[in-house]
Amino acid sequence: MSKVDLRVNIAGVELKNPVMTASGTFGSGIEYSEYVDLNRLGAVVTKGVANIPWKGNASPRVAETYGGMLNSVGLQNPGIEEFIKKDIPFLRQYDTKIIVNIAGRTVEDYCSVVERLASEDIDLLELNISCPNVKEGGVCFGTVPSMVEHVTKEVKKFAKQPLIVKLTPNVTDIVEIAKAAEAGGADGISLINTLLGMVIDIHKRKPVLANVVGGLSGPAIKPVAVRMVHQVAKATKLPIIGMGGIMTGEDAIEFIQAGATGVAVGTANFINPRATLDVLEGIENYLNQYGEEKIGDVRGII
Ligand code: SIN
Repeated sequence: MSKVDLRVNIAGVELKNPVMTASGTFGSGIEYSEYVDLNRLGAVVTKGVANIPWKGNASPRVAETYGGMLNSVGLQNPGIEEFIKKDIPFLRQYDTKIIVNIAGRTVEDYCSVVERLASEDIDLLELNISCPNVKEGGVCFGTVPSMVEHVTKEVKKFAKQPLIVKLTPNVTDIVEIAKAAEAGGADGISLINTLLGMVIDIHKRKPVLANVVGGLSGPAIKPVAVRMVHQVAKATKLPIIGMGGIMTGEDAIEFIQAGATGVAVGTANFINPRATLDVLEGIENYLNQYGEEKIGDVRGII
């Protein structure tokens, strides 16, 4: 097997390969590092962090579905100070890029976290305006183009690292939303976050999730995600991190052919803790099979 060039550039940051973790499915890698050599990943994308600790939603907050799962975690996190003390030093031991996912309920919340991170040794910011599980902020910002542009513009004023904006698929026109992020000064786009869903326990005659609704992820949503990556890649110049049901290297190649520069593995981590590495090896195998020398040669070819 010959060595293929897997390097990718996202908003001026070079990653050794396109494979990263999807926010909220890998923590900051502390538990997973027993199974995954984090040095092999292009980047670790952390669980969303807010300006203060958040307790998250009441349990039950995860439910299995056909081809995926629903979650309504509600962005539980220890707050930025604890995160800076513990998670960044842990990740800095590894030769991988650090992408910090930012949670908030207001524009000011987002700005304060980004301002606090300005002097920290991290590589990229991922602005989460797409979580369906918190009432304020989250998906509310991500569904209205004028709000997407506004929050992006405000956060950019404080950002010292390139800013990736993570979009929700729970909209009519993803292109309009992506263009609003671009107009606000985003340096890249992550898509997609989860699709809003609901599961009912017919024996108890009530919703399975305490929050009633939650975000659907896993292979069930992959065709929606690939379609949105393709649409956004055609309509903007921004680098895209594609995600939504990536289980194998072939899945990741689909996203890359649709136009993604990076690929994030999420729900698969819950079934197979080394899913990220399996995806990475699968990408390499595919490129070798077709005699490709560089990953860039298959990007956006659809
Ligand atoms: C959550 O913590 O509720 C999930 C995060 C997200 O969907 O952005």
